[in-house]
Amino acid sequence: MDNFAFIIHPVNPKRDAQRKFPVLAKLLPEPAIDFLSRYFPPLYISHITGITSLATGKEIEGWFIACPFTPRQMVSLPAETVYKKIIAAGKLAQELGAKILGLGGFTSVVGDAGITISKHLDIPVTTGDSYTIAVAVDATLKAAQQMRVDPATATGAVVGATGSIGRVCAQLLARHVRKIVLIGRNLESLRQVQTLIEAQSGAEVQLSTTMQDLQQAELVLTVTNAIEAVIEPQHLKSGAVVCDVARPRDVSRRVVEERDDILVIEGGMVKVPGPVNFNFDFGFPPGMAFACMAETITLALEGCYQSYTLGKEISLEQVETMGAVAAKHGFRISGFRSFELAITDEKIDQIIQNAHQQRLMQKQAHLNWANL
Ligand SMILES: NC(=O)c1ccc[n+]([C@@H]2O[C@H](COP(=O)([O-])OP(=O)(O)OC[C@H]3O[C@@H](n4cnc5c(N)ncnc54)[C@H](OP(=O)(O)O)[C@@H]3O)[C@@H](O)[C@H]2O)c1
Repeated sequence: MDNFAFIIHPVNPKRDAQRKFPVLAKLLPEPAIDFLSRYFPPLYISHITGITSLATGKEIEGWFIACPFTPRQMVSLPAETVYKKIIAAGKLAQELGAKILGLGGFTSVVGDAGITISKHLDIPVTTGDSYTIAVAVDATLKAAQQMRVDPATATGAVVGATGSIGRVCAQLLARHVRKIVLIGRNLESLRQVQTLIEAQSGAEVQLSTTMQDLQQAELVLTVTNAIEAVIEPQHLKSGAVVCDVARPRDVSRRVVEERDDILVIEGGMVKVPGPVNFNFDFGFPPGMAFACMAETITLALEGCYQSYTLGKEISLEQVETMGAVAAKHGFRISGFRSFELAITDEKIDQIIQNAHQQRLMQKQAHLNWANL
C-alpha cells in the first residue's frame, strides 16, 4: 500500500503533551514538561487511515511521529542536537515502512530546511512548503472575496517576506494586488524579493522593517519564524483580512479579542479527501489537515516518492504544480478558522459591518477636527 509518515511537534508543551499523555501531562507543571521533553526519544503517535484520492480511488495509510522539541527549543538548542532528534524520528518512520517523510511545523524551518535531514535517511523527505504557499495565497484571496475586498485596488502585505515561504507568497500575492508591502528585518534581503516581484508583476512594491506599515494593507499574509506574536491590534487597518500561516502564530490573540473589525484566518488548513481518521487530535476539526501534511499525502497518493520540497529556495513552478496535483486528488480549502474556532458567514458579515462603522466614525472624527 502507498503510504507516508509525518513529523509533528509540540508548540505549547502542556496542552500538546496532554493530547498524548492526558494524565501525566495534567499532573506535571509546564516547565517540567518542557525540560523533560528534551530527553524524550521520538514518539510513535498514531496510524492514519481512510485517505482516498478523488481522482483515482486509491487509498493510502500513514503515521504521525512526534519530535518532542518545541519551536523555542529548536531555535535555542545547537542545530546538530535538533537535527539528531529529527533524524531519529525519520528513522522511526523508516522502521514503520514509510515510503516518504513530511517535516511538520518547525522541523522544516530548522537549519537548511530538510537538506541535512534527508541526507541521513533512506526515504525521500519533503517540507510541505510548496503546498503551504499555494494554500496560503488561495485562502487569503478567498477570504478577501468574502470580506468584499477587491485585490486589484487593494494593498497587500507579507510579513516575513524574506523567508522561504514568505518570498514566494509575496511573488504570488503581488500578481493580484495594486501595491504590496514587504515586511522583514533585513532591508538587503527585502530588496532581493522586490527584484523578483518587479520582474513578474506590475504591483508597486514598498519595503519595510516595521509592523506600523501594516496600517495601509487590506490583505495581510504573515509567515515569520518568530517564537512570539509579532502583530498586535494597533498594527492593523479596519476591515483587513489577515492570513496567519506561522506556527507558533504571528498574530497576537489580542487582535481577535480587541478588534471585531478584522478577519484573522489560519493559513494552511485543507480538507483531506476520503474518510480520514488521524487517530490523534492535533487541534483541527475532523477531516482537516495542515497544508504541509497535505503535500506529503499528495505525493503518496501520486506514488511520487521524491524529495519534492527541500531547502530554502522554492520556485513558483513547484508551488503551482503541487497546487494542481493536490486539487486533482481532492484537497480543498473548506471554511475558515481563527484561534481554533470556525468562522461563520454571519461572523464575517458582522466584521464587515463593524469595519464600516469604524470608517464612518473615523470620517466623522476627521470632519470634526477639520472644523475646529
Ligand atoms: N501552516 C502550515 O502548514 C505551515 C507549514 C510550514 C511552515 N509553517 C510555518 O511557517 C513559518 C515560516 O516558515 P519558513 O520555512 O518560511 O521559515 P524561514 O525560511 O526561516 O523564514 C522565516 C522568516 O521570518 C522572518 N522573521 C522572523 N522574525 C520576524 C519579525 N519579527 N518580523 C519580520 N520578519 C521576521 C525571518 O527573517 P530573518 O531573515 O531576518 O531572520 C525569515 O526571513 C514558521 O512559523 C513555520 O512553522 C506553517
